[in-house]
Amino acid sequence: MKLTVIGCGYLGATHAASMAELGHDVLGMDCDMAKVADLNAGKAPFYERDLDDLLAEHTASGRLRFTASYAEAAAHADLHFIGVGTPQSKTGNAYDLGQVFTAVRQLAPRLHGPAVIVGKSTVPVGTVPRIVDILREFSPAADHIEVAWNPEFLRESFAIEDTLRPDRIVMGFAGQHTRAETLLRQCYSKIIDAGTPTIVTDLATAELVKSAANAFLATKISFINAMAEVCEATGADVMELAEALGHDTRIGRRGLRPGLGFGGGCLPKDIRGFMARANELGAHQALAFLREVDAINNRRRERMIDLAREQCDGTLTGKRITIWGAAFKPDTDDIRDSPALHVAQQLHQHGAEVTVSDPKALDTARKTFPELDFIDDPITAAEGTDLLLHLTEWAQYSQIDPKPLATRVTQPKIIDGRGTLDPTRWRNAGWTYRALGRPNSPRS
Ligand code: UGA
Repeated sequence: MKLTVIGCGYLGATHAASMAELGHDVLGMDCDMAKVADLNAGKAPFYERDLDDLLAEHTASGRLRFTASYAEAAAHADLHFIGVGTPQSKTGNAYDLGQVFTAVRQLAPRLHGPAVIVGKSTVPVGTVPRIVDILREFSPAADHIEVAWNPEFLRESFAIEDTLRPDRIVMGFAGQHTRAETLLRQCYSKIIDAGTPTIVTDLATAELVKSAANAFLATKISFINAMAEVCEATGADVMELAEALGHDTRIGRRGLRPGLGFGGGCLPKDIRGFMARANELGAHQALAFLREVDAINNRRRERMIDLAREQCDGTLTGKRITIWGAAFKPDTDDIRDSPALHVAQQLHQHGAEVTVSDPKALDTARKTFPELDFIDDPITAAEGTDLLLHLTEWAQYSQIDPKPLATRVTQPKIIDGRGTLDPTRWRNAGWTYRALGRPNSPRS
């Protein structure tokens, strides 16, 4: 099938490459010329496992091209996926839908015959009617254009896997047995035929599924982090608590990892955007709990700063602090709303000399936080430090031998913000080991 993907960020570039992998003839469109050049050269403008390989394979095979031209995109296919960003608005909690509406406005006058527009971006419920209005205003073929919604549930760092082998497909249509449904089913036939649960619903439900899913995931994380607060007050161990809870299959262990909380370009802005939309709809009470979910999440970051101050004998001024991790989670170079960098910046503002290390995210972090020091190698970064903070759980940090490291720091003190280091190993190597929600000393 011929199709286009408008917007080639984390979502769009992954979707475009994955659709080429399914055998389609894909044209990706993005107004950023530098990004288009990178993608056409088979290179992702960000780090995502396996994406470079897929881009290289399919730009070479001719099944995948990228352009900055809306005219070319409109002429390429009748099936257009919208995968542009929907960040939090600069003035409040609501979504900024500017990129979605611009994409539709640019595409609309260039569509002269029947076409299907499929939204993948995360949007507030009720966005499709606004898209339809734009089409009516700007497209000569508006009566022949269908809009469908097909939310994306991919996680960064598993983006290709989640696109090609999703745990479900959700499609929302304006009516029954539409052309849009036929095209979308054909597009995903390999995935659907593999037995993937496929939910066909109305447009509002399809839009809402994504908001509800991310709200649930954020709530689960904040739930276990609220338990961490209780553990801190009682001397209990949140890691063991999470394990014990997770064996109940109704609760489940996945997404129940306590620590510094959630960040990234999705969960934080999605719960705020969802609350803002519920307010507009007069349903604010239904989502009032999400305010607390957000507050618990932010308190983890504050707690980390308090704990760091405590470990620095009550003052951060002039203290050397090394942070392992800059990305919002491991295996990505994405630093959007990164808990690690939030803490780094706050510690710097409180007078600490902060050095940050990360295997992938330092280039972007450097540009955004020029006031911090950055060193690639985690051991060199920790040289002479007064306090080490483990804030993004890259697998390689668990491999580092704490024994020789103890001799290279000024004070062998570590706070494990993700609870993935082995406390016994670090304590036996002479370190003072502290973790969020865990006892200060080993169980006797
Ligand atoms: C999230 C959702 O998981 C995807 O399903 C969704 O499609 C995506 O947002 C999106 O809206 O596009 P992502 O932001 O890539 O995906 O990352 P997650 O793996 O969900 O992690 C989010 C944050 O929560 C990270 O900072 C992570 O460290 C934290 N987290 C995650 C925890 O603190 N504990 C956990 O148990 C899980």
